[in-house]
Amino acid sequence: MSEPAKTPVPAAFRPWSVAWPEYNPADVTPPELLPAALAQEVPSWAEGAPTPTDVHDWDRRRAQALVPFELDERGWPLHPQGRTGRTGRNLGKWGENAAADPIVVAGTGDDRRVLLITRDDIGVEAIPGGMVDPGETAPAALVRELREETGVDLSDHQPIILGQDIVDDWRQSDHAWVASTSALYLLPTTVTAVAADDALDAQWYPFGSLDELESAITAAGRTLYAAHRPLLQRALDYLSK
Ligand code: RP5
Repeated sequence: MSEPAKTPVPAAFRPWSVAWPEYNPADVTPPELLPAALAQEVPSWAEGAPTPTDVHDWDRRRAQALVPFELDERGWPLHPQGRTGRTGRNLGKWGENAAADPIVVAGTGDDRRVLLITRDDIGVEAIPGGMVDPGETAPAALVRELREETGVDLSDHQPIILGQDIVDDWRQSDHAWVASTSALYLLPTTVTAVAADDALDAQWYPFGSLDELESAITAAGRTLYAAHRPLLQRALDYLSK
């Protein structure tokens, strides 16, 4: 699957506060989330609201959001970082979709490694994270996603929460986006990881720096998920403290 098209957004027009009457974002809504399809059947991973106006708990969602956001004059949620060049919805929920990203690091010095999976949708090397389920906490989602995608069970480990950030996810739009709790797990040595669920592969990569990681991924004929670069860099910054 390739990333959906988007309308280029010059930096000056990114903020919602800047008027841009000609703005014509590309609609990224997949067929199964179009209103006519939703009227027939709502996919298990998505909410049934055809538009954000059909969502009736914006006050609660805004109060619980990892990253604060506003609604526009129609009552539609606005991406906290401004225009994305895309409209519609290609994620489960309108507004914020909460994710959890466990960054598992093993070893020290030249032997330090990080555990990444190959995503089965866009085929890139990524942190073995996923969406937080309804009613689930972020720490529970960190453990569950890691176990589902790699078979590694760190339920008895204490993670170091690194942050809560917008992820530059390939599915995001002006009205539906991903905000992730990322956390660092430190292990003395690597453990066996077996890809499962929506991971095609699970690999330990050298993790002395982002450059070293990217070189190893490139040498393996693969590509690092660009949206996870800032999360991995923050883990490296933490480790170099
Ligand atoms: C990324 O997609 C997040 O950072 C997280 O790793 C993942 C969540 O989506 P799914 O893996 O559940 O599709 O943007």
